[in-house]
Amino acid sequence: NKRSITVIPGDGIGPSIVDAALKIMDHAGCNFHYDYADAGLMALEKHSELLPQSTLDLIEKNKITLKGPLTTPIGGGFTSINVSLRKHFNLYANLRPVVSFEGAQSRYKDIDIITVRENTQGMYSGAGQTRSDDNTHAEAMSIITREGAERITEFAYKLARTEGRKKVTIVHKANILKSTSGLFLDVAREVAQRYPDIETNEMIVDAVCMNLVMYPERFDIIVTTNLFGDIISDLCAGLIGGLGMAPGANIGQDVAIFEAVHGSAPDIEGQNIANPCSVILASIQMLEHLEMQDKAQQIRNAVRKTIAEGKSVTRDLGGTATTTEFTQAIIANL
Ligand code: NAI
Ligand code: MG
Repeated sequence: NKRSITVIPGDGIGPSIVDAALKIMDHAGCNFHYDYADAGLMALEKHSELLPQSTLDLIEKNKITLKGPLTTPIGGGFTSINVSLRKHFNLYANLRPVVSFEGAQSRYKDIDIITVRENTQGMYSGAGQTRSDDNTHAEAMSIITREGAERITEFAYKLARTEGRKKVTIVHKANILKSTSGLFLDVAREVAQRYPDIETNEMIVDAVCMNLVMYPERFDIIVTTNLFGDIISDLCAGLIGGLGMAPGANIGQDVAIFEAVHGSAPDIEGQNIANPCSVILASIQMLEHLEMQDKAQQIRNAVRKTIAEGKSVTRDLGGTATTTEFTQAIIANL
């Protein structure tokens, strides 16, 4: 009796790197059944909508989804599909770990940071977005609730305990955004009080950016609001060799969607040079979520070994291999 996983291949480089992750899981003996679903540009062509009901149904049915990046057309009044998915399933926690890989193109060693991004509120709540017809005035609303701030900071501190981590950095801009960031910080401080065993640090988001570049070893778990988390997690990806190495999990009460941090990369689409590790690492997060720690570790070791060997890695990691060759090399190392 195979466990079913919903798979959204996505747009641009998505289908190729998602396929790589599935092949590797199959070779590792994960024994999943895949239910394929469309979203994004591919869904727009086939079903005349970006996020068909049939896709929502499959995500709901299987609870676990592995997803490639989706292109949201600019203009035309389309709301971001990712934002829609996160809101629809209330995937309030976005978990974005970055870990150093020996042999990756990076200025740093021993990076091990998890960004816990609030995923449904803040500047991305979608509320109050207006732009005047004459293009002279635009507005957007940021929403923070006590409930939202509390559950994400609780999530971060619980994660610190279960992962045996030492420190949580609360990232905010409460000095300027007094209402929204102010409430987030106050609630986060209350939560921190319940975790005296975990060190708490507070930092303004701009200072975080500088400190991440200069002293990344000072960070362990970062917890923050939606927009800051989006930006900081790309910065963190830059510390370990780029977006090709950065996975993310969107976690809610009973549904979870695992994906790359990056987008559909139209600039390298169709060239077979995308680094598949982002989605492979997302599949590892998925296996850990499913408590398949052995398979997760087996795949992680194979990725580690392949990157350290350096013979069969993609361009972003300093090699010349194609996506297909990189994937084959990881499979050979399983
Ligand atoms: P992007 O993240 O797709 O690409 C940024 C840069 O990183 C590009 O130079 C790209 O070639 C490179 N890159 C990304 N992934 C890579 C990989 N696996 N291997 C090697 N290089 C890689 O950002 P961009 O170009 O701004 O966005 C393109 C589209 O993606 C947009 O339509 C955007 O809305 C969408 N997007 C979707 C996301 C999602 O589905 N979660 C997240 C971010 C953007
Ligand atoms: Mg982003």
